[in-house]
Amino acid sequence: MLHIRELSAWYGEAQVLREVDLEVPAGAIVTLVGRNGAGKTTLLRCVMGLHRQQRGRINFGDQAGTKAGDGAGDGAGNNAGDLAGMPPHRRAAAGIGWVPDDRGIYASLTVEENLTMPPVSGSKVGDSKVGGLKVGGSKVGGRNVSGAKSNGPEPWSLSQVYEAFPVLKERRRFPGTKLSGGEQQMLALARVLRMGARLLLCDEPTEGLSPLLVGQIGDILRTVKSHGVTVLLIEQNLRFATTVADRHYLIADGRVVDSLDNSEVKRRQHELLAYLGM
Ligand SMILES: Nc1ncnc2c1ncn2[C@@H]1O[C@H](COP(=O)(O)OP(=O)(O)OP(=O)(O)O)[C@@H](O)[C@H]1O
Ligand SMILES: [Mg+2]
Repeated sequence: MLHIRELSAWYGEAQVLREVDLEVPAGAIVTLVGRNGAGKTTLLRCVMGLHRQQRGRINFGDQAGTKAGDGAGDGAGNNAGDLAGMPPHRRAAAGIGWVPDDRGIYASLTVEENLTMPPVSGSKVGDSKVGGLKVGGSKVGGRNVSGAKSNGPEPWSLSQVYEAFPVLKERRRFPGTKLSGGEQQMLALARVLRMGARLLLCDEPTEGLSPLLVGQIGDILRTVKSHGVTVLLIEQNLRFATTVADRHYLIADGRVVDSLDNSEVKRRQHELLAYLGM
């Protein structure tokens, strides 16, 4: 679903990503694990189109040949799913959802307002209206930019969110500030699902949470996956990563140093932690 080739990125003169290759298959949870400053957030910013100083190739689509960019990149339209040159809001409309490390929740709004406030992307809308805002498919200019007519999840309705995350329903009148860290993370995830995200980019959702809440994040991610959503998860907690992910990329100093399946990471956990200096 997400294919990254030779991605490099800079802040001014400083190079922080070095020819990163990374694959996230549809329906999988893949982690990017590395210590502070390794370049993890920068990689997500590149995928979202929020970082300009980059080189390399990022493709997004359900299968080979489906198009996310549809000509937005080089103007020629011959790079299937190439995101180059596509602005962040169009990447969001194509189904890429960003859950930033600060969660981006509106503290003064209630849970339900947080879920109904975000602008819903796309000019073509689907079947439901919530709180006056339309929710529906992500078509831009009459084309299905995701290329996923029938095989990708649709934007979640409010009732779907409440079914998957009953706690949010219980707390729907609570202001964002009154939620626990785990509930805030759940809300942040639910909000991007409401916008029709098919690929979630989650930046350290467990950071600063107690072990109990970390366990809840695991449950949330498994729920999301069971609904067919694909996840690229940034983590520093390798042990937690092995409880949710199918595959792991280890990143150090902006370079992918290894890519391993979950059983291998479980087996070599101590060695890998020492190797990453974590
Ligand atoms: N706005 C910026 N200007 C200059 N350098 C930056 C900027 N943001 C990040 N960096 C540097 O780029 C490198 C990679 O940062 P990035 O935030 O991608 O790392 P990270 O792996 O997400 O770290 P953390 O685990 O602390 O979130 C670091 O050396 C960081 O200091
Ligand atoms: Mg970061």
